[in-house]
Amino acid sequence: MKMNKVAVIGVGLTKFGELWDQSFSDLFVEAGANAIVDAGIDGKDIDAIYLGNMSGGRFIEQEHMASLISDQAGLNPAPATRIEAACASGGLAVRQGVIAVASGMHDVVVVGGVEKMTDITSERVTQTLITAADQEWEAFLGMTFPGVYALIARRHMHEFGTTREQLAAVSVKNHANAKDNPHAQFRFDVTVEQVLGSTMVADPLTLLDCSPITDGAACIVLASPEKAKEFTDSPVYITGAGQATSTIALHDRERITVSDATINAAKAAYKMAGKGPEDIDVAEVHDCFTIAELLAIEGLGFCEIGEGGPFTEEGSTARGGKISVNTSGGLKAKGHPVGATGVAQVVEVVLQLRGEAGKRQVDADVGLTHNVGGSGGTAAVHILEK
Ligand code: COA
Repeated sequence: MKMNKVAVIGVGLTKFGELWDQSFSDLFVEAGANAIVDAGIDGKDIDAIYLGNMSGGRFIEQEHMASLISDQAGLNPAPATRIEAACASGGLAVRQGVIAVASGMHDVVVVGGVEKMTDITSERVTQTLITAADQEWEAFLGMTFPGVYALIARRHMHEFGTTREQLAAVSVKNHANAKDNPHAQFRFDVTVEQVLGSTMVADPLTLLDCSPITDGAACIVLASPEKAKEFTDSPVYITGAGQATSTIALHDRERITVSDATINAAKAAYKMAGKGPEDIDVAEVHDCFTIAELLAIEGLGFCEIGEGGPFTEEGSTARGGKISVNTSGGLKAKGHPVGATGVAQVVEVVLQLRGEAGKRQVDADVGLTHNVGGSGGTAAVHILEK
């Protein structure tokens, strides 16, 4: 199915990290103001707001988020809607914004994503995140997300001969990229030896295989192509949008080493855009753990299933490689404020396509974003073009 093109006319981010001095609404207002200034629009131009947020209720005991942020940002009475799909909340918020504009229902919408995760202990964060898995069969029995992805990693190593060093190569690459991203949480290099030697979290995944616990917000402004012309000469267009669903529990999946939600979401997005994996120059993919980036690049078709390890180790996903993956530093090193991640991925790809990515700039005409909820129960893929 073809869709009407939707333009991204503004992007904004906060710094990602442990942001003790900023509240949840401060974060949204900062990212939102940056996006609105970037777009050159006024509050009165905004027809609707979509907000990705996973668990305000558990992280900061605040629900009714969309109304809160609209109010705090001075955007009332525009309709404001919160979207929740665990770590894919941001990606699905982008999708809802795209649908609203492509359908002709609205001309200009703001899509935000925000999460404030560091106000509670890491134990409580872990318990909150695992609510995105099957409570009865996974969480209740003591499973955590590092544990879920560790099972996938071990099986990937068993089935395809993926090595521990190949997993570590994902972290090494993403940390190197984050060093050049002023918004990233961790701006330092790591080596394969450091990844292997860091604290064990869930065998075989160590601390440096994991994305961190992060506060942060991201925001984009979407507009119809006609409306976009009023504000910018160089919009980036979203030309493909795919979403797919798979089993929420790992044990119900036919193969735990393959993300069928990713494959199906990518198939829909490629078809809509009339593109294939060979057309993509730059991609932001969901690397919540190093193994997750291998599943992502395999499911998106950048390499064959099972080949993600060698593909990464030989540098094919490094900046300027066959396809530049996670130039922002990815979830691993830029940080993973869960509800904001899917929106922040679009921000990075837009900056790359506009040629505004500073030191981490790559040569790119077509980009892709890939956002996953849980261990792969939800996936959202967007394709963006100059
Ligand atoms: N990568 C690199 N360094 C990290 C890190 C990470 N993922 N997480 C924490 N650190 C660093 C901290 O900056 C701190 O460094 P310092 O001592 O120099 O200040 C140190 O490690 C200890 O930090 P702390 O906050 O005490 O770590 P923790 O043990 O509470 O948490 C994890 C570490 C890995 C358990 C936590 O980051 C985690 O749960 N990550 C996964 C999040 C997740 O599941 N997201 C959803 C995916 S589906």
